[in-house]
Amino acid sequence: MSTSSPHRYPQEQVDAVYRVIGERRDMRHFLPDPVAPALLERLLQAAHQGPSVGFMQPWRFIRIRSDALRQQIHALVEQERIATARALDQREDEFMRLKVEGIRECGELLVAALMDRREAHVFGRRTLPQMDLASLSCALQNMWLAARAEGLGMGWVSLFDPAALAPLLHLPQGAEPVAVLCLGHVPAFYDKPMLEQEQWAPRQCLQDLVFEDRWPAQGASQA
Ligand SMILES: Cc1cc2nc3c(=O)[nH]c(=O)nc-3n(C[C@H](O)[C@H](O)[C@H](O)COP(=O)(O)O)c2cc1C
Repeated sequence: MSTSSPHRYPQEQVDAVYRVIGERRDMRHFLPDPVAPALLERLLQAAHQGPSVGFMQPWRFIRIRSDALRQQIHALVEQERIATARALDQREDEFMRLKVEGIRECGELLVAALMDRREAHVFGRRTLPQMDLASLSCALQNMWLAARAEGLGMGWVSLFDPAALAPLLHLPQGAEPVAVLCLGHVPAFYDKPMLEQEQWAPRQCLQDLVFEDRWPAQGASQA
């Protein structure tokens, strides 16, 4: 009996999928080169092919063309970066040394937002309304992977107050910005997550995160 699926892609294509998953990085260092319009379109199409709860497609993308607006978004993020550092207390200085965005340098800046009137979409969200955000995140992961395969970096920035960003972009009541996306050419991709390189946090061991039948009892060894 064969264990391989008849629907499996050829080996080199399977390898490419795992390669892009392994080599995707959250990027904060960018070159100023522009992103070709056809490439941007492909990345947005990749996002738009993401799965979504009840096929609601809650994602909306706003391309930031105005330089003044880009500076305003950067200022909002800087404000939140400082507030986050203060909230981190003992790790304040260490956090302030991290590079957490590339808003002013990247070739393209986008804001991803959840659409308004989401309450009409009950399918799969009656008990888990946050599935709209999960769906938008799937779209962004598609874009992140496609960008890496195209040789472009993407950085997801969530250090901002959505209530302050929404009016800057004229979002309607009920819509919510959830990601500032820095997209563009990069000098090089980090070998590992930058937060791991900078010793902010290590990657956890998968074995410690996968359980069988039940959540392990507190203090139980998982050997
Ligand atoms: C929902 C979400 C929000 C994030 N927000 C930020 C952010 O505001 N600033 C930042 O530097 N990185 C942000 N990141 C990137 C993470 O720091 C990064 O994914 C993590 O360190 C692992 O690195 P890797 O993506 O290169 O594997 C965010 C990632 C996700 C998924």
